[in-house]
Amino acid sequence: MSASAHPDSTDLDRLHSAVKREKADLAPESQPTPMWAMFLFFLFAIIAGSQLGFYTGGWSFDVSNPFTVINGGGDPRPGGSGAGAALDPFALAMKKGASGYAVCGGCHQGNGGGLPGQFPPLAGSEWVSGGTERLIRITQHGLVGAISVKGQGYNTPGGMQPFGAAMSSQDLANVLTYVRNSWGNEATMITKEMVQKVRDEEKRATQWTEADLKPFADKNVPGEIPAGPGATAAPAAAAAPAAK
Ligand code: HEC
Repeated sequence: MSASAHPDSTDLDRLHSAVKREKADLAPESQPTPMWAMFLFFLFAIIAGSQLGFYTGGWSFDVSNPFTVINGGGDPRPGGSGAGAALDPFALAMKKGASGYAVCGGCHQGNGGGLPGQFPPLAGSEWVSGGTERLIRITQHGLVGAISVKGQGYNTPGGMQPFGAAMSSQDLANVLTYVRNSWGNEATMITKEMVQKVRDEEKRATQWTEADLKPFADKNVPGEIPAGPGATAAPAAAAAPAAK
């Protein structure tokens, strides 16, 4: 707009104040970025970002957390793998088994001590550190009737319920590894494959009894045990076959 656009106007003040209110035209070089350029930019950012994420191991906390660089790797949060290498299979099973044990702890107690006359102890129990086959079978299908644990008789009405349907083979393996290596117990770890093997073979509709389990008392389910602390502890059954 310029004064020549209003040749008839005599009120110069009004005309000029109108002109002064106008914003200057945008210079052609400061036009908004065209949509196609924005689109290309975001497309590039998404592709580049996903490539970066993919080739650096993905954005999991363990990979992407800033402490990894400082402490030499590992998850620095409480309960994390700490400074250093990833957990070995035994340590991992112990860690997961400790939380999975909450299912058992309501009866057998957090310290594995059980409740006198009601729930037998897992700490120091020959049922726990003995043959893995019997132990897996108990948790798979439950246990009922009179039993003896550490020389003490138990016969809780209803016995122990089966956990086969409620827990995965992996969860059960973790918990059993945990109870076999807590409160002074020391025995080989139980793997998911061992639990699965018993699960596949065992066809049973009722809870076990002590008599039915006798053939399995000292038997260990065959299977690979990952090298490490979980493989070194000799099962009590193997060390002292006469015990029971
Ligand atoms: C609702 C209570 C209850 C829960 C939960 C429970 N148990 Fe038991 N458990 C019992 C009872 C009762 C007996 C004894 C059964 C009998 O008298 O025949 C027993 C016996 C056992 C035995 C054999 C005896 C011994 O003390 O060593 C083992 C091993 C065992 N339980 C392991 C487990 C594990 C592992 C879990 C968790 C997955 C678990 N139990 C969860 C009640 C329970």
